[in-house]
Amino acid sequence: MSLAVSYSAYGGPDVLEIIDVPEPHAGPGQVRVAVRAAGLNAFDYKLRRSPAVMPSHTLPSRQGSEFAGVIDELGDGVTGLAVGDEVLGWAPLTAQAEFVVVNATHVAAKPAGLDWASAGGLYSVGNTALRSTDAVAPTAADTVLVSAAAGGVGILAAQFALRTGATVIGTASEQNHEFLRGLGVIPVAYGPGLVDRLRAAAPQGITAVIDNAGEETVLAALELGVAPARINSVVYFEGADKYGISVVGSGKKTSAELWELARLVASGELVLPIAATYPLAQVREAYERLESRHLRGKVVLLVG
Ligand SMILES: NC(=O)c1ccc[n+]([C@@H]2O[C@H](COP(=O)([O-])OP(=O)(O)OC[C@H]3O[C@@H](n4cnc5c(N)ncnc54)[C@H](OP(=O)(O)O)[C@@H]3O)[C@@H](O)[C@H]2O)c1
Repeated sequence: MSLAVSYSAYGGPDVLEIIDVPEPHAGPGQVRVAVRAAGLNAFDYKLRRSPAVMPSHTLPSRQGSEFAGVIDELGDGVTGLAVGDEVLGWAPLTAQAEFVVVNATHVAAKPAGLDWASAGGLYSVGNTALRSTDAVAPTAADTVLVSAAAGGVGILAAQFALRTGATVIGTASEQNHEFLRGLGVIPVAYGPGLVDRLRAAAPQGITAVIDNAGEETVLAALELGVAPARINSVVYFEGADKYGISVVGSGKKTSAELWELARLVASGELVLPIAATYPLAQVREAYERLESRHLRGKVVLLVG
């Protein structure tokens, strides 16, 4: 048997349990990974709180979508990978466990310099930030607003926008302003008065928006005259019908894309802070921290 995070009722972090599950084994074309770290994402608790998030979802449910660890079993036909390889990968709704079994194409080599927590917490936010940044295609001529810019998705999206040469404004609470300035982002507090603060921060005007927070950002952007086609939200899906904004979120995942993201973080070219790590046994505390919604970067479970 082996340990895995599970829940049998919808609700808060208190419904989470660590349960014994039969040890999985790699089938043809698959690898088994002894997990060292597994990231937490907002999607996990949104689904746990409400099945409407994924109508096909059933209970009991496992949890977690991203991991890093060591390959300890190879299925028939797997080439280019070996037992003992350090990898990171994705595994929808099963990653928070001692072992995951995934298709061999769903892992990438972990760069030697990348710590386990960063590797295990990278891909969901990385893939989402890439897709949402691409959706508004920033250039050096743009002033881009990134909301929730100190969250996992926002930190990466802000840096992807900066890499195009764009000027980037990021919303965050005061405690994250110095951090954002260090990245090259102009920080602005969210909340009442946002439109006036954005006008003051960007007298030249905002031309594109990567929203990770919701309606407040989108309404502020519209009031400031940003074209709906250049506003993307990964949260405020109603905005597509209501205002014609785009709502591109996480998309097709590939090993090559994951490898490149890992390389960028390992080399320091991309910054993704780890706000907190918890042992697997403290999964409830880990989600309480995540669900507090005020953190910088990722919360990650350390396993084994
Ligand atoms: N559609 C998709 O495919 C997709 C994929 C991934 C994520 N998402 C969604 O994207 C959102 C962001 O995800 P995340 O992983 O980056 O983490 P998150 O945990 O939701 O973001 C944390 C950040 O949110 C900021 N924040 C809290 N309340 C805010 C408010 N009222 N206005 C603006 N910012 C606020 C916090 O800033 P301070 O600490 O500075 O207060 C914190 O840094 C989540 O809602 C998630 O569900 C969607």
